[in-house]
Amino acid sequence: METFARIAGTGSYLPERCVTNDDLAKLVDTNDEWIVSRTGIRMRHYAAEEQSASDLAVFACQRAMKAARVDAGDIDLIIVATSTPDMVFPSTACILQDKLGVKEAIAFDVQAVCAGFVYALATADKFIRTGAAKCALVVGAEVFSRILNWQDRSTCVLFGDGAGAVVLKASKEPGILSTHLHADGSYRGALCTPGTVQNGAVRGNPVLAMEGSTVYKFAVKAFEDLAWEALHANGLQPEAIDWFVCHQANQRIIMHAAKRLAFPDEKVVVTVDRHGNTSAASVPLALDVAVREGKIKPGQTVLMAALGGGFAWGAALVKW
Ligand code: UT7
Repeated sequence: METFARIAGTGSYLPERCVTNDDLAKLVDTNDEWIVSRTGIRMRHYAAEEQSASDLAVFACQRAMKAARVDAGDIDLIIVATSTPDMVFPSTACILQDKLGVKEAIAFDVQAVCAGFVYALATADKFIRTGAAKCALVVGAEVFSRILNWQDRSTCVLFGDGAGAVVLKASKEPGILSTHLHADGSYRGALCTPGTVQNGAVRGNPVLAMEGSTVYKFAVKAFEDLAWEALHANGLQPEAIDWFVCHQANQRIIMHAAKRLAFPDEKVVVTVDRHGNTSAASVPLALDVAVREGKIKPGQTVLMAALGGGFAWGAALVKW
């Protein structure tokens, strides 16, 4: 009998410090009207100086494990999607494993920037379907506030920090119906933080740079293509989707893609207004908010889609 991977619980965490657009207007030449009208973002959270991605992830995982009614002894796989890891190595997943008190598990990071959570979910799905794991923590955790260029108002206002997690369990009932991953490295310069650590110093630009309009145009088309790819793979039409959980970078991009797919506004989960763009954490954060607000319910069909630096992009179609 076939084995599937099902999402058994979700959790998320936002650091305490909440920063509004008006707060940012005191630091850079911007204003609430521009940020809201261009992006839909009203606030974002920033981690405290001593908080790392794994610290945010611990809270998100504990909440997801509680929701899934599993404890540390049940977890046999941890995948963390992050572009702002705690350190060069070991992986944030290994640090998280230790902080959660998980003794025996496979643990590694996935680097696909804003598409990281979907990449991690697709990877964990394959571990579970093949029997290599039975109970996985799939996490997106980011502290993007650490890699922002405060001289660049077109990017520094967009991002926030946070973490989201799901517990994925082996099941005889279908959960993750299909996943679809893509990458095109010829776009690597359009969205990047190219700095590296070399000979004891940072070499290259260690802050985020983005060609906003290139990403915008590519993203809208990619989300539309991803949705059709996932629908066709499962013999479904757009009406079958109960919830569209898209990467939360810009409300205009999300609604533009949803419109092209004829998804009604009430089926679209939007958290970018409250979270900003939290990169790999954005999809699991949005999922958790939608579950806890009583929107996503058992038996419903959820389409997740994300795109980020690389470019790397992907989708997951999930029966809840
Ligand atoms: O997570 C990865 C995925 N990332 C994304 O999906 C982001 C995709 N891109 C975008 O969301 C949009 O391109 C942005 C929100 C980044 C920019 O929006 P836009 O409508 O493309 O604005 P723009 O870059 O064309 O800038 C328009 C104007 C410029 O002024 P001029 O040259 O027309 O006088 C900018 O200097 O807005 C100005 N501007 C700002 N003004 C006030 C740029 N940033 C700001 C700001 N506050 N923060």
